[in-house]
Amino acid sequence: MESIVKQNIPEALKIAQPKYHSSYLVNGELLTWKGETSEVYSTISSTVPYAPTLLGSVPNMGEKEALTALDAALNAYDQGQGAWPTMKVKDRIECMENFVRIMATKREEVVKLLMWEIGKTQADSEKEFDRTVDYIYDTIEDYKKLDRDSAKFQKSDGVYAHIRRGPLGVVLCLGPYNYPLNETFTLLIPAIIMGNTAIFKPAKHGVLLITPLIEAFQKSFPKGVVNILFGRGRAIAGPIMETGKVDVLALIGHSSSANALQNQHPKSNRLRLVLGLEAKNPAIILPDADLDLAIDECISGTLSYNGQRCTALKVIYVHKDIIQEFNKRFSERVDGLKFGNPWDPGVQLTPLPEKDKPDYIQELIEDAGQHGAQVINKRGGKRTENFIWPAVMFPVTKEMRVYKEEQFGPIIPVLSFEDIQEPLDDMAESNYGQQVSLFGKDVFALAPLIDTLANLVCRVNLNSSCQRGPDVYPFTGRKDSAVATLSVHDALRSFSIRTFVASKDNKANLEILEKLLETKLSNFISTDYLL
Ligand code: G3H
Repeated sequence: MESIVKQNIPEALKIAQPKYHSSYLVNGELLTWKGETSEVYSTISSTVPYAPTLLGSVPNMGEKEALTALDAALNAYDQGQGAWPTMKVKDRIECMENFVRIMATKREEVVKLLMWEIGKTQADSEKEFDRTVDYIYDTIEDYKKLDRDSAKFQKSDGVYAHIRRGPLGVVLCLGPYNYPLNETFTLLIPAIIMGNTAIFKPAKHGVLLITPLIEAFQKSFPKGVVNILFGRGRAIAGPIMETGKVDVLALIGHSSSANALQNQHPKSNRLRLVLGLEAKNPAIILPDADLDLAIDECISGTLSYNGQRCTALKVIYVHKDIIQEFNKRFSERVDGLKFGNPWDPGVQLTPLPEKDKPDYIQELIEDAGQHGAQVINKRGGKRTENFIWPAVMFPVTKEMRVYKEEQFGPIIPVLSFEDIQEPLDDMAESNYGQQVSLFGKDVFALAPLIDTLANLVCRVNLNSSCQRGPDVYPFTGRKDSAVATLSVHDALRSFSIRTFVASKDNKANLEILEKLLETKLSNFISTDYLL
């Protein structure tokens, strides 16, 4: 396979100077790190011959800084008495509006770093940024609605109740490398707007792209509400969890990390979990499916962002009557995709940000080969310095690693089935339960399948690939795929708890309530609302 050469890089996107980033945010202060740092490399080359590009460096912090950041978050929350958790909804929203206004001015810088750090195409990097800005505005609107709906008293059995959603406390927020901006912010933004305070550590790749936003956090929120650290998860998140002072672990990543961190918390009953974890979403293609459509959707489902999405299609089941035709046409389509750097026009496949990923995919190919599968597309498994061409593997069986592991990269296992019960049984046995794609036309076949699949996963995509969006829809999963539900609306619920003031219906209490409303002394007891 051809290497990618430096002349492909537009002038504005070249890395003229590495970014040696040294500041971090704790207790409202932008502090300068003087200790050890970690270099950040892109697997994209700026030179011929190939060499990874040095993008800069970030602080490599440890336990001491982690615990200082935790203290800052604890003080800002102040056992629920802090200015932030007791603040009027209107004022918290104002802080968030300030933040998103400043954030929007950093688009170019963040998008450029998204391309270099994680190899996402320019169009998808722009989409990730814009989608995140939209998500913040939508969250603000939804929070206003939530607030409007709770600006009232209810009465039952002679007891008045003023019910709201209150914050949970301190949130440790950890996002994934494949959506280092969007998915991290879909945790962090709802967490803080609901009145929690947070410690946030960027993912292992996609770290520098957070740095243009640190100042926006500092300028927009009171001290200690958002604390941002850099370093390895083990060095930062572990010691924070061990204190038992974190109320919510918000993580999008692998269940092994989530479990390890959860187990470090001494009081698991006090720890709320908001987790988006791994998945192995299947496509099931029935004999009457529109094959053109199914192939289009399976191409984007398996290979957008090289398959590095938790929602990617990671195994394809095709009915035996159409398997030959599917394999032939699907393989040709895979080989016809365009590989290049993220900014190359029309590019669909891009360099893999994890330098060991091509070796891992190769291992999966070899293991499947030893168990009787073949790479059925001509270019499958061909390598460059930073990529391995997507390999379509057939026939895949259950003992193969590519069947069992979440590949999170360019390899596509294909199985054929005769009886629909086969994929259903596999899904029931699987550790994962996020989504499925079902391709077919006959409603008599589809109806019972939809009814079963809806109980095995949390989203059945009819004649379309799996995806998270639109962000107003619930994003969750069963088994090892998620804990709690995210969406613009659900995330506000996941990061809060219902809490209320109750009072018996008598003269004295009514007088107090009326005075509280009249004087506006309480931020909680209030029937004012925002339009
Ligand atoms: O990595 C998993 C993401 O939630 C996928 O989101 O379906 O919008 O690519 P997406």
